[in-house]
Amino acid sequence: MANQELTKEYVLGTGQDELDRLGLQHRIWADAAVSAWKRAGIGPGSKVLDLGCGPGFASLELAQLVTSKGKVIAVDESKGFVSHLNQQAAKFELPHLQAYSADAQNLQSTLNDKGFDAVYCRWLLCWLPEPQKALAEVKKILKPGGRFVIHDYFNWRAMCSAPRSKPIEKMVQAAVASFEERNGNVDIAASLPKLLRETGFVVSDFSMHARVARGGGLDSTFAWVSTWWHTYGPKLVQMGKLSQSDCEQALLAIDEIGRNPDQFFVCPPVFEFIAKAP
Ligand SMILES: C[S@@+](CC[C@H](N)C(=O)[O-])C[C@H]1O[C@@H](n2cnc3c(N)ncnc32)[C@H](O)[C@@H]1O
Repeated sequence: MANQELTKEYVLGTGQDELDRLGLQHRIWADAAVSAWKRAGIGPGSKVLDLGCGPGFASLELAQLVTSKGKVIAVDESKGFVSHLNQQAAKFELPHLQAYSADAQNLQSTLNDKGFDAVYCRWLLCWLPEPQKALAEVKKILKPGGRFVIHDYFNWRAMCSAPRSKPIEKMVQAAVASFEERNGNVDIAASLPKLLRETGFVVSDFSMHARVARGGGLDSTFAWVSTWWHTYGPKLVQMGKLSQSDCEQALLAIDEIGRNPDQFFVCPPVFEFIAKAP
């Protein structure tokens, strides 16, 4: 990806490290996504929007699920991710997948498309200063009765190691503080039942995915957690949220868990909503 061309990017960046991290993250969570998509009625011929698509790992799978009879529009504010996804769609010969750069809180200015059967939105709302605006935009473009599928966080700070580790706890607190400083809200799922209802949606499915990441080199979920901290820990140091030595101690503690099959990480819970448009 040509990072130099990017003008407006989100806190984690859009470099190869974040691309790889999001790819692994998608593989870990793809089972939950596909199950929710199917329950939302997404299948051959569906017209779906992947909102806040990132580099589009979910969009590519959605494009396969809806087949060439359907359509997938993917939207992200990052021009770098969008151009990467359009290249992937061309490479895999998926002309019914198109990606655009737009602000999820103001879709109408760039997206003329309407009449979607479903909208998927994963780990986007927690980054938006005004998530209620994104919900209102989604309502406008869904067909009546269309489905809005959301995966997002509440209680991200519940992430911890077993056995507990003070350096890891300190790093988790620093990360939450860094999100809050950027107007991110990793407790966003707590507000969604009310926000969805106020926007006119009816929530039909509401559940929580809890996962553990076991050490000992046996579990790719652990690789996801470890990659996250090895990427974000140094960013916390750059932001002045964590000292270099606290970061090093926490990363050493994570590496130690990674070598020990008796130890594990508790992942932040991911909440799932399937809501029906009015
Ligand atoms: C954690 S990533 C999730 C990407 C993708 N949904 C996934 O599950 O792999 C968050 C994404 O939200 C995008 N984003 C943040 N603020 C946005 C906004 N206002 N409008 C559109 N996209 C935004 C970022 O560029 C980033 O790609």
